[in-house]
Amino acid sequence: MNDPSSDIKGMKLYHHVDRVVNELRELGKDESGPLRVDELVAFDQLHYHGTEAVDEAIRATGIHEGSSVLEIGSGLGGPARYLAHSTGAAVTALELQEDHHLVASDLTARCGLGGSVKHLCGDFLTHPWDGERFQAIVSWLTLYHIPQREVLLERCRSLLEVGGFVYAEDLCERRPFDDLEKEELESELFANYLPSRDQYRLDLVAAGFEAVLLEDMSDDWTAFTRARLDQYLEHRDRHLRVHGEEVFETMCSFYETMVRLFSGGKLGGIRVVARRI
Ligand SMILES: C[S@@+](CC[C@H](N)C(=O)[O-])C[C@H]1O[C@@H](n2cnc3c(N)ncnc32)[C@H](O)[C@@H]1O
Repeated sequence: MNDPSSDIKGMKLYHHVDRVVNELRELGKDESGPLRVDELVAFDQLHYHGTEAVDEAIRATGIHEGSSVLEIGSGLGGPARYLAHSTGAAVTALELQEDHHLVASDLTARCGLGGSVKHLCGDFLTHPWDGERFQAIVSWLTLYHIPQREVLLERCRSLLEVGGFVYAEDLCERRPFDDLEKEELESELFANYLPSRDQYRLDLVAAGFEAVLLEDMSDDWTAFTRARLDQYLEHRDRHLRVHGEEVFETMCSFYETMVRLFSGGKLGGIRVVARRI
């Protein structure tokens, strides 16, 4: 049987969680001392436009002090920490990959945010929730990894209070992929559901949501990923010194893949705000 927590490791972005350790060493930190959220944001946000995108979610959903928020696919915990730190919300951060979950938990504790960010390791499709309810569910570049959109949306609906929001930044399809491209998307990006923008809306409505916003981010993310690759190459010597050759080559290859896929015009990006009716 497939195990999503090991199959997802086909995606190069997830190979080297030790990048965090290298960056902390570069900042002159020891292995267990206190850290600040703002010191980490340059390398703990695994999506486009870093904390600006998290600010966008805060604005769009009205997250505030005392809100209870679930992040699906919390990675290294960057968005969850920034959310809790900047708004005073209580954040539950669910992450599939154990290595990412453990690093995230450690960073959160060292930032003194253990009381406001709860880290959980598990698969959103099967994680047991025990009657918990949230005012907002947020997610960056995660939902396309998860198959069974109907199950995913029904789980979101039942975890949200009525009137609660889903905010997601996600990948989608602009033009149909051929079979070879689908294979690549599955192996290189662990893409399990890439609907068109229209299909995205239909799925939300069928699951009992009002689609408040479906913003096409494709051009923006094409430019972003291109600039990210250029900057990474520009700072080649720094990255080789901090991370070594294997990490450098792995990241270059991943960044190049994203530039090629977005520039090809078939892979797109979407920002979604939906309200539980
Ligand atoms: C591109 S990363 C983004 C991490 C984080 N949201 C951020 O922006 O920094 C997507 C994350 O979703 C996680 N993920 C994928 N499928 C998941 C699932 N079924 N349940 C929970 N997490 C999942 C991956 O392991 C990965 O860490």
